[in-house]
Amino acid sequence: MTEKLLQEFSTPFYLYDEEIIKNKISFLNSLDFKFDFKFHFAVKANPNLAILNLVKRHNFGAEVVSAGELFKSLKAGFDPMNIIFDGPGKTEFDLKYAITQQIRSINVENLEEIAFINEYSLSKGLVTNIGIRINPDIDAKTLDKITTGKSGGKFGVSIDQIDFDSIANFKGVKLTTLSEHIGSQIVDHIQLISSYQKLVSLADKINSSLKTIQTLDFGGGFGVMDHSDKKLNFQDWQNELNELLKAKSYNILFEPGRYIVADSGELYTKVLYVKTSGNKRIIITDCSFSEYLRPALYDINPPIEVLNNSNDLDTYDIAGGICESTDFLAKDVSLPKIKQGDFIKLLNVGAYGSSMSSTYNSRPRPLEILKNKEEYRVIRSRDTLEDLCKNEIM
Ligand code: LLP
Repeated sequence: MTEKLLQEFSTPFYLYDEEIIKNKISFLNSLDFKFDFKFHFAVKANPNLAILNLVKRHNFGAEVVSAGELFKSLKAGFDPMNIIFDGPGKTEFDLKYAITQQIRSINVENLEEIAFINEYSLSKGLVTNIGIRINPDIDAKTLDKITTGKSGGKFGVSIDQIDFDSIANFKGVKLTTLSEHIGSQIVDHIQLISSYQKLVSLADKINSSLKTIQTLDFGGGFGVMDHSDKKLNFQDWQNELNELLKAKSYNILFEPGRYIVADSGELYTKVLYVKTSGNKRIIITDCSFSEYLRPALYDINPPIEVLNNSNDLDTYDIAGGICESTDFLAKDVSLPKIKQGDFIKLLNVGAYGSSMSSTYNSRPRPLEILKNKEEYRVIRSRDTLEDLCKNEIM
């Protein structure tokens, strides 16, 4: 199929494997949990409508963080009652849209959001289910740039700042959920369990008087590493969760994004030029940080495969054609000898790949293709040059 794809489509393009996504979903859905649970796909990982619809058809809900993600999720077919809205900077527009769609929960991260949701809901004759995202002050032990559960960061609310009694007096909101998300790429399940413990004890404490918390939303963050086989120990994680929630009756939500789609995605690119600069061998490809930003932003190397038959190895920096020194896709990687015209593919790019792409340097955003065992189909066409001018007025 690869040869056919490379003949039919010009690079760069993303290719996703539906089977891999389905396997990830079935694995999570078949975990032996002894409590009520539901998985909500973190849309930001890959918001393509075809992917969202696929995930929705397999009994997942959606986790969104903007009006745009909410709009796309509704369009992809998610029931509003299977959508939760997170995010540290929701605008009034985001909140009004989420309120009128009557989604499962708006998880607030700033206490001021509550008064607004209350007033707007009352003005529309509605009562809105809300959650509060707690900052549990727990280190996810992941990359610094994607850790979100420590005190001093912008995420969530510190427990000691919340007056649960006064929230209970609002008539337009119903506090049903406590939520948290301590970071991404987490492989140490102990950190996750410790953060869940904090949420459970807080919910127990609130319910001893107010009896309002029905749902605990434990966020996502399940690690899929770029260049290591370290993995979250799902078996231990599941067993410890069952232990933690024994004799509790909370509905538990999880919000995985990366875990569902990362491994399913490959990004195909063509080698435009091979050059030597000082003691470095540099490959310039037709892909850049506009199409795949993560290496430049997080200093990570994605796994790379070279599609040629060379047996000799050389060490390369792989770069794109953007006029910026940070435009690298990988540094100091040992790969089969590469020549002009070769194709290479980046692996594990199904999450936060296309979704973080941009049109910087006025490059059209790439094509996206979804394959299954029998066939493939385009699920996002490449931007045209006219698309790059859309919404601009001369
Ligand atoms: N829930 C919330 C509230 C989140 O902020 C996120 C991710 C997730 C769930 C899903 O996390 P996951 O299961 O995908 O780890 N751009 C970065 C990742 C940033 C994740 C932001 N929030 C990257 O490319 O590694």
